[in-house]
Amino acid sequence: MPRKPIVGGNWKCNPVEHAKLPDLVKNFSGCDEAILAKCDVYVCPSNLHLAMVHDKFNAGIMVTPQNCNFKGCGAYTGEMAVDQMVDLGLKCCLIGHSERRGEFGLPTPKESDELLATKAAYILEKGLLCVYCIGEPLPLREKGLDALMAEAIIPQLAVLVPLLKGLEDKSRLVIAYEPVWAIGTGVTASPEQAQETHKAIRDWIAANVDQKTADEVRIQYGGSANAKNAPELSACPDIDGFLVGGASLKPEIMDVIKAIA
Ligand code: 13P
Repeated sequence: MPRKPIVGGNWKCNPVEHAKLPDLVKNFSGCDEAILAKCDVYVCPSNLHLAMVHDKFNAGIMVTPQNCNFKGCGAYTGEMAVDQMVDLGLKCCLIGHSERRGEFGLPTPKESDELLATKAAYILEKGLLCVYCIGEPLPLREKGLDALMAEAIIPQLAVLVPLLKGLEDKSRLVIAYEPVWAIGTGVTASPEQAQETHKAIRDWIAANVDQKTADEVRIQYGGSANAKNAPELSACPDIDGFLVGGASLKPEIMDVIKAIA
């Protein structure tokens, strides 16, 4: 079965004013049944705003938290449990964004691969779809594909191997490849760079999990994807969708979705 494309809009910590939320939701109103039959769509509002908008989108659009805790409800101040997401009827959770893996530019503790694997297992166990972000910083990209795979991507993927092996429906774990140097910078990986990295990720999964998983797992590209570059990136055989930051706060998000749907 061909992989169904998937596009996510990551609003990150935006907008400031909750009064702007209806307009941001409206940007996704073109996602009708016909589009959603061809492309999965999710939106990640900020934690504070998520519960205000989770029932405002067209049916079928998955409203997705940008993080979760590793365990459940209880004494976890400042955290969100997947059990609470299940109760709200949410279907998807995103974890491991580079901005949580130490790219805030502040001395906050980084989320480790081990912690993220624990979170991913918890999300999958509760029946949600898990979007798992990985990526590399610029100095590794400059060293070439082998170095960035060995030093950044493979360690991030390796912790997922047992999970991927045990997962019956491989479409429930989505890998979002986000080159850190192309996030929020306006710089995009060229289609060749993006395709080459997506293929290397898929080949690694084939060799270290199995061919079926490699064929079925979806790999999104996330690094300044927008209406202009989405058509060319969509034509790459190993790019199964996008995780969009800045452009998901604008009407152009529909053009990105239509490009791959
Ligand atoms: P931009 O699209 O703003 O570069 O952000 C990408 C991203 O981090 C999505 O999660």
